[in-house]
Amino acid sequence: MPKVIRALIIQLLALVILAVGVYFLQFVVSPPYPIWVLVVAQGGISALLSCKMGLPCWWRWIQFLMPVALYVAVLLQVPSWLGLVAFIVLWLVFSNAGKERVPLYLTNNTTRQALKTLIKRTKDVRFLDLGCGLGGNVVFMSHLVNVTRSVGVETAPIPFVISKFFSWLRGGEVYATDLWKVDLSEFDLVYAFLSSEPMPKLWEKVRSEMTSGSVFVSNSFAVPDAEPSEVWELGDSRKTLLYIYRIE
Ligand SMILES: C[S@@+](CC[C@H](N)C(=O)[O-])C[C@H]1O[C@@H](n2cnc3c(N)ncnc32)[C@H](O)[C@@H]1O
Repeated sequence: MPKVIRALIIQLLALVILAVGVYFLQFVVSPPYPIWVLVVAQGGISALLSCKMGLPCWWRWIQFLMPVALYVAVLLQVPSWLGLVAFIVLWLVFSNAGKERVPLYLTNNTTRQALKTLIKRTKDVRFLDLGCGLGGNVVFMSHLVNVTRSVGVETAPIPFVISKFFSWLRGGEVYATDLWKVDLSEFDLVYAFLSSEPMPKLWEKVRSEMTSGSVFVSNSFAVPDAEPSEVWELGDSRKTLLYIYRIE
């Protein structure tokens, strides 16, 4: 079950518990009760249930803050359409967070320099960024003299439009293609900065499609149960780890 649906069910359950609690409370303390107390209780009950009902424990903060934020929005008379607009924009940027468990965060310049170093002795490199975000890697790699093709694929609508425009302006190619549908055999260096979730399935794809001599690089997320050929720890503030798999 998607986590958002689970979170919603927990909120509904908390509402039922709260309603039953309030029903019995009237025999002890006469109503009315301050609304903010009920809102905090709603958030508190949801937060307590979240971890026990299968959500990652850090979601309890979201579960607590959601009713509180809604209440504050009502108090401040925030127009309801703003919520809808915010939801649509977030969805257009982060649509792959729900489906693929991969949100949008970006490769930094130190990592790009490391990729450049990795291929500095290789000629005619065809580079692919799986889920290219805003297209920064695609543009960067397209400027290297030994890179003949720099391609990115991206399916989240807003990142796609930005990366398409950016690559049209500054170099490289970006396609609105699902990463699972790309033929990896056409590339010498395949780069992924995704999450731990798709790594086992992606490794299957890498092993069945990438050709001997090509290189698969995963930023930060190792392939479970596969020994990388090299691991590079970079000198940036987040101590980025690049897992490098040379395909035999
Ligand atoms: C963590 S971001 C990395 C962005 C970029 N590669 C970078 O390093 O700066 C991962 C990107 O992969 C995209 N993505 C996730 N699943 C995808 C899929 N199945 N097909 C295409 N893109 C996908 C997400 O929308 C997101 O923009």
